[in-house]
Amino acid sequence: MLFPSILALVTVASAHGVVQKPHPRTPGAETSTACGKVLTDFYKADNTSYPEALVRSHPTFKPATSSCNPYLCRGYQFADNTANVYSYKAGEKVDFSVYIRIPHVGNANVSVVDAKANKVIGEPLKSWPSGYADGKQFPNLPKDQTQFSVTIPDLSGKCASPGDCVIQWYWFGQGQTYEDCVDFTFGSAPATSMRRGSRIAA
Ligand SMILES: *[C@@H]1O[C@H](CO)[C@@H](O)[C@H](O)[C@H]1NC(C)=O
Ligand SMILES: *[C@@H]1O[C@H](CO)[C@@H](O)[C@H](O)[C@H]1NC(C)=O
Repeated sequence: MLFPSILALVTVASAHGVVQKPHPRTPGAETSTACGKVLTDFYKADNTSYPEALVRSHPTFKPATSSCNPYLCRGYQFADNTANVYSYKAGEKVDFSVYIRIPHVGNANVSVVDAKANKVIGEPLKSWPSGYADGKQFPNLPKDQTQFSVTIPDLSGKCASPGDCVIQWYWFGQGQTYEDCVDFTFGSAPATSMRRGSRIAA
């Protein structure tokens, strides 16, 4: 029967997307150690892909160590990204640019996440409860879905050290999970090495 097989093809079609700005975590040697080279190679080949596709194409994939969670920052490790830590202050506006390569309608949000506990801190900074990356609107998605800004909340007492916290963009579109993470510190780093919103070496 032709129709059901076409349907099956449609249901496995992949969405794809990645945060372009601010510079998100990317995979390197530490990610290979923590997660396995399979994961690093997979995302180096296509940084817009997602963990469900990784498992589908590598059915025996398992994170190499417990410090890899493929559903937090795609598994990318802080240790590969110590040169890409931003410094933000309360009330600061941070501009995001998201590249949606292939749309799949779903919901999305941007939150501050405790990167060690994998826990959202406070309320989402931005939230699209439905209708995010709708294929019917693609490629003319509402500008607010791909070019937007978030305002840094008061995180006093939290996110003081590089690696503690990330701003996570989370998109869940029809069974496919996307998470990109921006490493940052809040406020209290030494004043000399900081400029507002600038990238600092960790
Ligand atoms: C993702 O890959 C594209 C194409 O290779 C590249 O231009 C882009 O900078 C990459 N983005 C990130 C965040 O690594
Ligand atoms: C953000 O979206 C994800 C994916 O749908 C959802 O699981 C999560 O609960 C949402 N987070 C918040 C803080 O709303």
